[in-house]
Amino acid sequence: MIEKINQYLQEIKTFDSTDPDKIEQLRIKYLGRKGLLNELFAEFKEVPKEEKPEVGKKINELKKEAQKKIEQLSRQAKQEGNKQKIDLTAPAKPYEPGSRHPISLIRKEIIDIFNRVGFTISEGPEIEDDWHVFTALNFPAEHPARDMQDTFFIQRSPDVVLRTHTSSVQVRVMKDNQPPIRTISPGRVFRNEAISARAHCIFHQVEGLYIDEDISFADLKQILLYFAQEMFGKETKIRFRPSYFPFTEPSAEMDISCTLCGGKGCNVCKYTGFLEILGCGMVDPNVLDNSDIDSSKYSGYAFGMGIERIAQLKYNVNDLRLYFENDIRFLDQFKSKF
Ligand code: PHE
Repeated sequence: MIEKINQYLQEIKTFDSTDPDKIEQLRIKYLGRKGLLNELFAEFKEVPKEEKPEVGKKINELKKEAQKKIEQLSRQAKQEGNKQKIDLTAPAKPYEPGSRHPISLIRKEIIDIFNRVGFTISEGPEIEDDWHVFTALNFPAEHPARDMQDTFFIQRSPDVVLRTHTSSVQVRVMKDNQPPIRTISPGRVFRNEAISARAHCIFHQVEGLYIDEDISFADLKQILLYFAQEMFGKETKIRFRPSYFPFTEPSAEMDISCTLCGGKGCNVCKYTGFLEILGCGMVDPNVLDNSDIDSSKYSGYAFGMGIERIAQLKYNVNDLRLYFENDIRFLDQFKSKF
């Protein structure tokens, strides 16, 4: 019996193939259920008592040897297999390009439209003092108009706030420059609103300001018509409705003809044919004087719009929260835009 086991050992030691089929055959031959080892263990029962220790040791040696060999050759076979799988001529895997956020896309589009007619870009701080957000803009202290914008206060007396509109940037520009001034201020603004599909405590604005001699409401209408048609198409119509802002007089809100039905009436425009997109007006002389600009010599117009609102109309996004959740399924849809 020892003789037979030695022969098996020899076969295992000299076996040398990394062909997975041959390795499997070897495994079945020795370690399989009806394999040689099980056969040997069965025979072992008949072995005379005094030979048992020696034969037992030999069978175990054979078992270990077989297991070791099969494991080692399988590992080798796998490595060789992996090597063969690398195809150097295969085209590279496509990579996932990112996409711009819809707010960034619209912000850029608005900026481009106003850049083309000579507006510069101005930016300012998001944390502001009361003067730049309210007082300089003709909101008297304790005036109810301050309640129009639910303000986040960082500190009280002196008041430090998160800006509720980017009109605060325009106050800074007027303080630092003399007319002609032609600028837009894009930026983040903050209002203490409960978050819902239609309101958010953070949103984005672009506000425009033009100050020079002899600026009239006709100039304001012309620039906003140009903007509306560049943004929403040449057939777009605009209309103005009287409104109130402390920093403009007269003030108006501007509507554009409905982007969906073109003015015929549908459920997007609630059968009015028009959609509200921005506030505007002639800069109140008090605001000019507050910023050391001579209101007897200069006049100007201002307007302000929400980027989310424009994006909503362009891309048909009806829930404001989508802009802030960074859901890949939402953002992915803007991949083709740039
Ligand atoms: N600042 C106003 C707002 O945030 C918008 C506006 C700007 C209105 C300029 C008129 C003129 O609501």
